[in-house]
Amino acid sequence: MTKRETVTVTDNVTGKSIELPIQRGTHGPGAVDITGLYRELGYVSFDPGFVATASCRSSITYIDGEQGQLLYRGYPIEQLAAKSSFLEVAYLMLYGELPHQGEMDTFVNSITRHTMINESLKSFYRGFNHDAHPMAIMVGVVGSLSAFYHGSTDIRNPVHREIAAHRLIAKMPTIAAACYKHSVGEPFVYPKNSLGYCGNLLNMMFSVPCEEYDVDPIAKKALDLIFILHADHEQNASTSTIRLAGSSAANPFACVASGIAALWGPAHGGANEAVLHMLGEIGDVSNIPKYIAKAKDKNDPFRLMGFGHRIYRNFDPRATLIRTMCHEVLAKLGNDKDPLFELALRLEEVALQDDYFKERNLYPNVDFYSGIIYKVLGIPTNMFTVMFAIARTVGWVSQWMEMIGDPQQRIARPRQLYQGAARRDYREMSGR
Ligand code: CMC
Repeated sequence: MTKRETVTVTDNVTGKSIELPIQRGTHGPGAVDITGLYRELGYVSFDPGFVATASCRSSITYIDGEQGQLLYRGYPIEQLAAKSSFLEVAYLMLYGELPHQGEMDTFVNSITRHTMINESLKSFYRGFNHDAHPMAIMVGVVGSLSAFYHGSTDIRNPVHREIAAHRLIAKMPTIAAACYKHSVGEPFVYPKNSLGYCGNLLNMMFSVPCEEYDVDPIAKKALDLIFILHADHEQNASTSTIRLAGSSAANPFACVASGIAALWGPAHGGANEAVLHMLGEIGDVSNIPKYIAKAKDKNDPFRLMGFGHRIYRNFDPRATLIRTMCHEVLAKLGNDKDPLFELALRLEEVALQDDYFKERNLYPNVDFYSGIIYKVLGIPTNMFTVMFAIARTVGWVSQWMEMIGDPQQRIARPRQLYQGAARRDYREMSGR
């Protein structure tokens, strides 16, 4: 019989000791099961930002931040990026295994047959000003899907869950492209399913009824790669938001709307947009030293956007893959002497040689390069995080399905360390 692994916790105030069991995963650090901590010792754990807390069990994605490794269902991201496609990765995420041809055909058919949105949904866009941020529109429109698709909101029904997951993956590009069209005042373009997932998105964004539009194969390939790289990233802020919202049995459309809101922030999915703003602010290679100094100055809120990661302390494997694609896209569709790209590469070079960044293991992350690719593809800056949301929907719905399907699932309800005023009595206004 294998020996039960435990960690002993001793309360030096009372002298009482308890044994907390260790749980082992397939890879990565073990987890100390602290559920007995409050029951036995009367303490809660304190871990702001969840740096040492596993909030759930999952078998979807594994990240080794020290080694710069990312696995989806066990498969290295490098292999999936080279050999797979976004929709095949979506299948893998949802169902745990790579599909056989028949399974893939059925899945692609299901996604393809759900790309249109209810015509009434379009009136929602008219309520937004043309200069509304597309992420604001996304939060609203995706949240409203639950008002249209009642047939897939019974979360205890696995068939409903699957339909909702497929609908979300399928409709996200249509909803996103409509955000863009609304902002430029052009008519919405209906999905054209024969173009494939990414080709259809590009067509819905850039074609107009009065002209022919051909989807560029490099643009399609680049988008497919970015979407694979962004498909999931275990328990990041937006995914954790979705799990938290979903734990109360909220419907999946509302949950994904909450995830989109969490993704919007510049410390998370908003970073790709922030990178472009930052490059614009730096303006010229000659200003790099000044901005590097600002990034290092603790009294200055400026940070190098697209650098650093909570988990990757070595390098971000997605950044390596996307950097190569960035060069390919620039060589074929852009201008590799583009001052913006030169500035980005020079900034990367300077930061990588700087002791401040080296000591803290601050490497360029995936968003550093995805923003530049999007810019070359003609996607406006305020749509960058929307593109991220389309890809991450696959991870969100997979993690949501995993959570709801877990028989041990309970409503998430963190505790807190209260440090406010001690109990006191109400004082009449005249006596304050
Ligand atoms: N520029 C300058 N200094 C930085 C940066 C940066 N981008 N990132 C971290 N640091 C410093 C930070 O000041 C701290 O220094 P010290 O130890 O002297 O106090 C040290 O590095 C550790 O940083 P931290 O803030 O404790 O790290 P974190 O894990 O809490 O934050 C992060 C991670 C990604 C929010 C942060 O690195 C950051 O704000 N980066 C810029 C925004 C960005 O690119 N976000 C996209 C992340 S990847 C996409 C995604 O998964 O959503």
